[in-house]
Amino acid sequence: MSGTPTKINIKKVEKSRIGEVDFANIQFGKKYSDHMLVAHYENGAWLQPEIVPYGDLALSPATTFIHYGQSIFEGVKAYKNPQGEPIIFRPEENWKRMNRSAHRMAMPDVPREIFVEGMKALVDLDRDWIPTSEDTALYIRPFMFATDEFIGVKPAEKFTFMIITSPSGPYYSKPVSIYVSDSYVRAFPGGIGFTKAAGNYGMSMYPTQEVRKMGYDQILWTDGFTHKKVQEIGTMNFFVVIGDKVLTPDIDHDTILAGVTRDSVITLLKEKGITVEEREIDIDEIMEANEKGLLREAFGTGTAASIAPIASLTYENKTVNLPPMETWAVANALKATLSDIRYGRVADTHGWTEKV
Ligand SMILES: Cc1ncc(COP(=O)(O)O)c(C=O)c1O
Repeated sequence: MSGTPTKINIKKVEKSRIGEVDFANIQFGKKYSDHMLVAHYENGAWLQPEIVPYGDLALSPATTFIHYGQSIFEGVKAYKNPQGEPIIFRPEENWKRMNRSAHRMAMPDVPREIFVEGMKALVDLDRDWIPTSEDTALYIRPFMFATDEFIGVKPAEKFTFMIITSPSGPYYSKPVSIYVSDSYVRAFPGGIGFTKAAGNYGMSMYPTQEVRKMGYDQILWTDGFTHKKVQEIGTMNFFVVIGDKVLTPDIDHDTILAGVTRDSVITLLKEKGITVEEREIDIDEIMEANEKGLLREAFGTGTAASIAPIASLTYENKTVNLPPMETWAVANALKATLSDIRYGRVADTHGWTEKV
């Protein structure tokens, strides 16, 4: 692989735009912080990364990722602990996942020094942009795209890696209603479902638009063979509580993104002594549990949404309404524990938070 640059050149903005942000009313992904990180890859090596003022890119119309989608990304969050120090939640896991995506998409590995250390330098510089109220954070978006000026179809040789950040509020403001897919497919074994490739999101727009028109918030994807085995939701992994067990689809078929929140949630649940089963889940099992009065909770997990309660699941014209979330024992306790760790309010016994 490439050589590993160690130094990051920094060019600061002349005047901060932070005054444009209404920190009392932050939405998701609308405003971008003062600086961004940029690193270019060419001739088999990464060049010196730079942190520069946030701004537009100039690209040739023949830039290859625009045409063929060699483009991947990650999502990470930074918080401020009670001492006012910026902390980033599990950036190493996102770095490893970025490189799993890169490998599958024939793109170069991003060195840790650029992804993790670059991210820390950027967050450190824009630390004033980290909001501090509950359910807010600095959303960090690392991404990489192919930049050859060539419209022949072949793996590119030039790439750009960047990180931008955005002060962000809650992704969903209320429990979500879910349509369980009985026709569209997100991922097959052998495909790219386990990556954060741009195409996985591009393909989801039309089906998501369709279910929105029908009055639902999101799709719960199912396998393409039977449309019965549930996979994941938009940008979240799926969990369901049946009786005293928590179930979540296993990630062994390359069809589901290995969520960092998913992994954190499974670890925390096991520590609380709750049984977690990672396995195939049939939608019929969920419907039957509901009929037997055993369906307790269902929720999505993800960096953007944290833990998002599900209000209802609809499959083939049959709707199951979950009990009111005030009664939920698992998701509410989980969210509280996870928030305490993310905001540095409790000791980090797992080594999940990194100071910048
Ligand atoms: C398709 C998909 N599934 C699951 C997740 C949740 O992953 P994480 O917890 O790492 O944010 C995301 C968001 O990154 C996603 O885009």
